[in-house]
Amino acid sequence: MAKALIAVVGAGLMGHGIAQVFALAGHEVTIYDSVKASLDTVHKRILANLKDLGDDERAVERVTPVADLGEAVRAADYVVEAVLEDLPLKQKLFAEIEQFVRPDTILASNTSVIPITRIMEGLKRRERALGTHWWNPPYLVPLVEVIETQWTTPQAIDFTMKLHAAAGKQPAHVKKDVPGFIGNRLQHALWREAVSLVEHDICDAETVDKVIKAAFGRRLAVLGPLENADMVGTDLTLAIHKTVLPDIDSRPAPSPYLEKLVADGKLGFKSGEGFRKWTAEQQAELRSKVLKHLKNARTLDV
Ligand SMILES: NC(=O)c1ccc[n+]([C@@H]2O[C@H](COP(=O)([O-])OP(=O)(O)OC[C@H]3O[C@@H](n4cnc5c(N)ncnc54)[C@H](O)[C@@H]3O)[C@@H](O)[C@H]2O)c1
Repeated sequence: MAKALIAVVGAGLMGHGIAQVFALAGHEVTIYDSVKASLDTVHKRILANLKDLGDDERAVERVTPVADLGEAVRAADYVVEAVLEDLPLKQKLFAEIEQFVRPDTILASNTSVIPITRIMEGLKRRERALGTHWWNPPYLVPLVEVIETQWTTPQAIDFTMKLHAAAGKQPAHVKKDVPGFIGNRLQHALWREAVSLVEHDICDAETVDKVIKAAFGRRLAVLGPLENADMVGTDLTLAIHKTVLPDIDSRPAPSPYLEKLVADGKLGFKSGEGFRKWTAEQQAELRSKVLKHLKNARTLDV
């Protein structure tokens, strides 16, 4: 793929990692943030990641922090936004960005859950706008969901899919702009049942996590649920669904158990207790275990 000029808007957790991936793939990247401290530290943060991963440290030289939005995006072929998860802020930013860029520059939002349609509906050229949902950390998790709206052209989707594939990511085309896209719908379908099992005292939180991690979680990185259904037989899958689905949680609202945890201030790591209690050491240990696992998984062929 030809090298492109990429502009990243927002230099936080996701933005700096996205800039790193594109720079490592050989693209020239500008990065803008309205907070000076974010821009001032972006090179340091990218360099630390590159060192830690053993990736080519010279890639950081292709990332240019720019303190003016117009200057950052003016020449870009592709702009990706990763500012705070705030709809009016994102709408306002894209309206501004559109004044500076070429008519064919592709505009992408990295929102986690806001519908892309809502973010992009006010644009003059909505056909070049789409979503790209990266996962944290962007340089370790391969998936990028590429979300099409009713206005997005096939050319914009095709360019974006190829751009990410060439940068070593695994782009997944989401053909309709549905809440949660694909990944978070799947993830939270599982989380709903996980909370329900604890709520109904079938087991405790630790046991839910153990059952997942020690059983199908082991396989999930190499065997998706539909591959698995084919492997065991769709007839067996149908039989299991007939027995189990009527009993699985299907409430269209969050569990009262989860509502109560939040109301009681049991917010997880940040308060020291959520579904379980967490000391500072246990939190650090779990974070480091996840990072180590993701680094090791870079060698997996997913
Ligand atoms: N953190 C995750 O795991 C994750 C995963 C996928 C998607 N996302 C999404 O990515 C986006 C960014 O999330 P994050 O975790 O990087 O947040 P973050 O808070 O780390 O970074 C946001 C950045 O936006 C900057 N910013 C705020 N207002 C701005 C403005 N007007 N112009 C330019 N920059 C501005 C902030 O200074 C900050 O550096 C959000 O939409 C989030 O939902 C996050």
